[in-house]
Amino acid sequence: MKFKINFLKFALPAGVLLAGSAGFVQAEELAWTNSAWQDSAWNARGCFPDQRGQWFRDAKFGAFIHFGAYSELGGYYQGKGPYDPAEQIIGLGDRRDVIPPGVYRKEVAGKFNPTNFNAKQWVGLIKKAGQKYVIATTKHHDGFCMFKTKTTSYNVVDATPFARDVIKELAAECKKQGIVFCPYYSIGDWCADDVKNPEYKTYPDYMRAQLKELLSNYGDSKMLWFDNFWYVNNQWKNDEQHAKELYAFVHALRPDMLVNDRCGRGASSTDGDYATPENQLKGSRQSRYFEVVMTDTDDDNWGWVRGATNYRKPADLIRNLIDCTSKGGNFVLNVGPMASGEFPPEHMAILEVMGKWTAVNGEAIYGTVPAPECATTVTDDIKSYSTKKARSIYLHVVKWPASGELTVRVGRKDLAGVKLLDKSLPRVQFTSAVDKDATVLTIKQPAKVDPYATVLKLTFKGKVTE
Ligand code: GLC
Repeated sequence: MKFKINFLKFALPAGVLLAGSAGFVQAEELAWTNSAWQDSAWNARGCFPDQRGQWFRDAKFGAFIHFGAYSELGGYYQGKGPYDPAEQIIGLGDRRDVIPPGVYRKEVAGKFNPTNFNAKQWVGLIKKAGQKYVIATTKHHDGFCMFKTKTTSYNVVDATPFARDVIKELAAECKKQGIVFCPYYSIGDWCADDVKNPEYKTYPDYMRAQLKELLSNYGDSKMLWFDNFWYVNNQWKNDEQHAKELYAFVHALRPDMLVNDRCGRGASSTDGDYATPENQLKGSRQSRYFEVVMTDTDDDNWGWVRGATNYRKPADLIRNLIDCTSKGGNFVLNVGPMASGEFPPEHMAILEVMGKWTAVNGEAIYGTVPAPECATTVTDDIKSYSTKKARSIYLHVVKWPASGELTVRVGRKDLAGVKLLDKSLPRVQFTSAVDKDATVLTIKQPAKVDPYATVLKLTFKGKVTE
């Protein structure tokens, strides 16, 4: 790797100069005095209760798409595999020997031809599933750009027989169908030693030029999803200084942009708006906003694996969505589209089931917040979660107790009614009694329940949110 990490003059569109650390401070001050986010909780490492993050807090359910040159291989190279994770088949360290960058460029990216790619169909499936935003890999660790860029010919339009700007088509379709588009961008780049364009003296120059293109030309994206590490002193690591530079750059361009936590990774000034745990549910309600991102297969492959049979079960994924929402976070389900450009049929089947559930029960998910006054119970016998909005607390019953009667204590006295969100299910039967400052409800399991989660809407006379 031959990254030259020295900072040269870099012109910002507003005419601000980034020149070494002095320039950086200037850019940061500019961004921080911008009134759009000066008063926000951006700085506070907490949730962001400001308008800027409203769409994100309300969205709850998102889609992740790992699509790139690696999708061509589906985890296998020269008859060997599957290499895990499939999206990193080019490799790092020892794994770099799997496919040397020059060979990868020519034989993998050079053959990328997902002829059945259809953004309208992808976004249609996502929308029907109830996912409200899309995070899509614009450049993964292999450095291959899925968008037309002036910075390098190593991009989907100039280097492949496909020659279509996947990100442009996807961003435009998201806009059309009312889905928020968010670029994923890997800070790391395992092919960057091949950046030859003399216009970019350093790798960060090159990267910022690409980000500027992405933030300017690809729809009104609202969030930037960074990943990977910086290459400094011959190793991949966190680097606060680089992260600060990048933050200042992004915010000077787009003060309203949400950023995930993988730019600075833990450094207080740069670890973004929210946390992004991978493939694990958070244990309890969090003080910090979070978004659980999860593979659709029961492993750590984000890119498509040819012949995978270990797809997760819709029942678990619906419960994960409810679990995250009940703790005040978001749930994001990944898909690795196939070499053909289509979603794997197994993923489409998952989306179909999730979509049917969200179509009926989405009211209890979108725009809700945790309801600590109605305890979530997760034991061997009972699994129930709660969320709330306006004048209602929603009880998501995943598993009814063997007794057939669920008893719930809600910390309010003004119960006005109880009903099931799914009108096709039998009417719910319950009794309620006020005990001190709470209402104790005993709910009879209906003769028919939702196989994934039956949602009860408890309505109160007063507002349940502050
Ligand atoms: C992991 C993988 C990376 C993937 C990311 C998505 O960090 O290593 O390839 O893009 O998860 O969150």
